[in-house]
Amino acid sequence: MTALTLSTSSAATLRADALVIGVAKGPKGPVVAPGAEAVDKAFDGKLATVLETLGASGGEGEVTKLPSPAGLKAPVVVAVGLGELPAKGDGFDEEALRRAAGCAARALTGTKKAAFALPVEDAGSAAAIGEGALLGAYSFKARSNGGAKKDDKSAPLSEVAILGGKPRDKAFKAAAERALAVAAEVNRARDLVNLPSNDLNPKSFAAQVQAAAKEFGLKFEVLDEKALVKGGYGGLMGVGQGSVNPPRLVRIGYTHPKAEKTLALVGKGITYDSGGISLKPAGHNETMKCDMAGAAAVFAAVVAVAKLGLQVNVTGWLALAENMPSGNATRPGDVLNMYSGKTVEVLNTDAEGRLVLADALTRASEENPDAIVDVATLTGAMVLALGDRIFGVMANDDAFRTALYEIAEEVGEQAWPMPLPAELRKSMDSPVADMANMGERMGGGLVAGLFLQEFVGEGIAWAHLDIAGPAFHEKAPYGYTPKGGTGSSVRTLVRLAERTADGDLG
Ligand code: BES
Ligand code: MN
Ligand code: ZN
Repeated sequence: MTALTLSTSSAATLRADALVIGVAKGPKGPVVAPGAEAVDKAFDGKLATVLETLGASGGEGEVTKLPSPAGLKAPVVVAVGLGELPAKGDGFDEEALRRAAGCAARALTGTKKAAFALPVEDAGSAAAIGEGALLGAYSFKARSNGGAKKDDKSAPLSEVAILGGKPRDKAFKAAAERALAVAAEVNRARDLVNLPSNDLNPKSFAAQVQAAAKEFGLKFEVLDEKALVKGGYGGLMGVGQGSVNPPRLVRIGYTHPKAEKTLALVGKGITYDSGGISLKPAGHNETMKCDMAGAAAVFAAVVAVAKLGLQVNVTGWLALAENMPSGNATRPGDVLNMYSGKTVEVLNTDAEGRLVLADALTRASEENPDAIVDVATLTGAMVLALGDRIFGVMANDDAFRTALYEIAEEVGEQAWPMPLPAELRKSMDSPVADMANMGERMGGGLVAGLFLQEFVGEGIAWAHLDIAGPAFHEKAPYGYTPKGGTGSSVRTLVRLAERTADGDLG
């Protein structure tokens, strides 16, 4: 992982391989952002003109590299666009800083040390810059051969110094530590999502969680296929039984001695979703290694909470299975006896996420947590509705849904509240079971949410995040978001835990 430091040095004298500065889009052309005064001075006060001549406008995502003039220690200046110049008196938006820092970090692959001289107003903006830089510097190196490709010689940026940070100030120190912990855990989730399904199955996923649990002092429990059969986990077994890689239910627990609240996080962990007997056609299965992104987010969030030592109990439930067709696979028309006692007719084996989540939600409810949040790459319908950057938030409690939506916004994740219309429930009625695993196609993401809701314990506040769109990024990288696994929802879950620890929620 990239190292992060706060520095009081001047942009002119700090030893670094590159100096990152901000440029905003002003009414009459690019404007050099605060933090880069010493750099502008080294350019005889003509930096904005130089940048404009080079074609820079200050627009979001723009990166302009220029050689340093005499007077700067760093040999290269990287000017990164911050977007519209904020109105007088307003600071730069934290997400604009996060994205700009991420862009710069991506442009600095192969560089050792970069100093970020972006506008730092307070600990919050320093944290945003640090987080963005560490997330932008991510590259997938988690395969057992050490690299994504055999000839992969790209070394991510190894050291980030934030100028204008106050290393002896308590708030700044905490902000930097938080940025480091959160970014490391978002990157952990990305690594897990990027691992191909021949490198990650329910058993090896559980082993990774066990190793981390040991490292961070978390309680770890796992149910293997024998225990799942014995315990009556018909949803998890029904989905996993077609694969040579049997399912697992993992529980990781973080507790704080003074905690007043307990949060349960439940993640969909389908390490590969072929669709099962209702096989997905070519064109729909190439990225389905990403179908465990919910479980990865939950795992990463619990570790982040442990690293931060938050005063709240957080239990992570990972519903791990591989959805494959075989002679032993669940058939469309089969009826499963779920862990809750309900029966479910499987009309489509590709609607498998809700089946594994149902068992995990029932199990999580048994411990009577104050709230449950599940995270899942659940439906293509949610991608059709909200596109590939926004996750949907559904809940059995209006205030809790609003809280999650606002928290997502606060940490720079894009989310949108979605309803759970009761009238869609009857489309899941089944003549042979309590319900079917599929209902009407219209509003498919909401139908899936309604299915899950039936497995949440009475009186427990519950929210469902459908991250099918943003979990895996197939287009060109932008801001701090790389191609592939994104770590979607980790930052939202961590902030939810912080807010819960602070007593801000119910
Ligand atoms: N894992 C998929 C959903 C998905 C789609 C995730 C695109 C990421 C990107 C899920 O298991 C699935 O196949 N859902 C079906 C449900 C349907 C059969 C009721 C879907 O959305 O088509
Ligand atoms: Mn599926
Ligand atoms: Zn799936």
